[in-house]
Amino acid sequence: MQRIYFDNAATTALDPKVLEEMLPFLTEKFGNPSSIYSYGRESKMGIESARKTVAKILHTKPGNIFFTSGGTESSNTAIRAAIRDLGCNHIITSPIEHHATLHCAEYWAHQGIKVSYVTILPTGHVDLDSLRNLLAAHTEGRTLVTLMHANNEIGNLLPIQEVGEICKAHDAVFHCDTVQTVGHYPIDLSQINVHFATGAGHKFHGPKGVGILYISDEVSIKPMINGGGQERNMRAGTENLYGIVGFAKALQMATETYEQDSTYIRSLKRYMAEQLPQQLGDVSFNGDWDGQSLYTVLNASFPKTEKSEMLLMSLDMAGICVSGGSACSSGASVGSHVINCIDPGSDRVPVRFSFCKHNTTAEIDTVIEKLKEIL
Ligand SMILES: Cc1ncc(COP(=O)(O)O)c(C=O)c1O
Repeated sequence: MQRIYFDNAATTALDPKVLEEMLPFLTEKFGNPSSIYSYGRESKMGIESARKTVAKILHTKPGNIFFTSGGTESSNTAIRAAIRDLGCNHIITSPIEHHATLHCAEYWAHQGIKVSYVTILPTGHVDLDSLRNLLAAHTEGRTLVTLMHANNEIGNLLPIQEVGEICKAHDAVFHCDTVQTVGHYPIDLSQINVHFATGAGHKFHGPKGVGILYISDEVSIKPMINGGGQERNMRAGTENLYGIVGFAKALQMATETYEQDSTYIRSLKRYMAEQLPQQLGDVSFNGDWDGQSLYTVLNASFPKTEKSEMLLMSLDMAGICVSGGSACSSGASVGSHVINCIDPGSDRVPVRFSFCKHNTTAEIDTVIEKLKEIL
């Protein structure tokens, strides 16, 4: 059975060219980057050259890029640093963030930090007036604003520039979870008032378990992990050398073909958005899907029936990978906190289709045929 993979917001396939770039660092170039002999220096050069590549693409300096284990670690680190090192005693976030942010905010709430949630409009966008009001109302100490650039479930894009300006006007620290946009969107960090931004290699055909944390010059934080002197004394531990090299190669490749890839993937999203209601009738879309939205994600809702409740499982049996809400430990869907927030009380069944450059309209036709059969 041919598998159809429409879950690229969850993770993407490693590009063979990325693997090719990584392989020497898994085999002959195995030196510890901290060793001073040539084997070590070669590894060190691999890391520093990767850092330069990443910094150039994101329009910042190599010194502002720290390699981590992925988006979750980067967000945990930024939020902790804002509280521990930058004097923040208040977090403003949204109820539709990734759990890497939401569960951190909940943790800090238990530690006595005040946590406020911005209002989310029915389109899935952050109500910026609500953000301004929350910032203005907090007068006893500094605020950390943590809002994601593109929502991983519905694709909505935050006006990151404007949010940066709002934060600046209130002397707030701004952390932006850019995991869904790094590698998918031209990000110019020199033009955005953001203190922390994140990225994960596996979202753009790079390896899993490697990410970045951008830290702006405006903030100075204490080490994220204590130990050796790696990552300029900020994150101790022997580096994920091949992961770092793979991250940079994948980002470089994504940047080089951004125009053509994004145009193509956008056309797939549009095609599916046209075909679904045409072929299946009662299908609606969640979020601002044809407005300020990432071109990779289309979140559709189907009427609730006995069959649609089993939709993800039925699609899986047909070799089609998509996602719905989070799964609980028994594997049953427990719903999506994002969809529950923008469409409270709805009994429709949401399915996220997320595309990459390898998908085709023929695959979309097959998925729609399968949906017709199942529903
Ligand atoms: C928006 C967003 N933030 C954070 C993460 C977490 O990234 P990672 O799995 O690399 O830790 C993800 C990926 O699932 C994501 O989509």
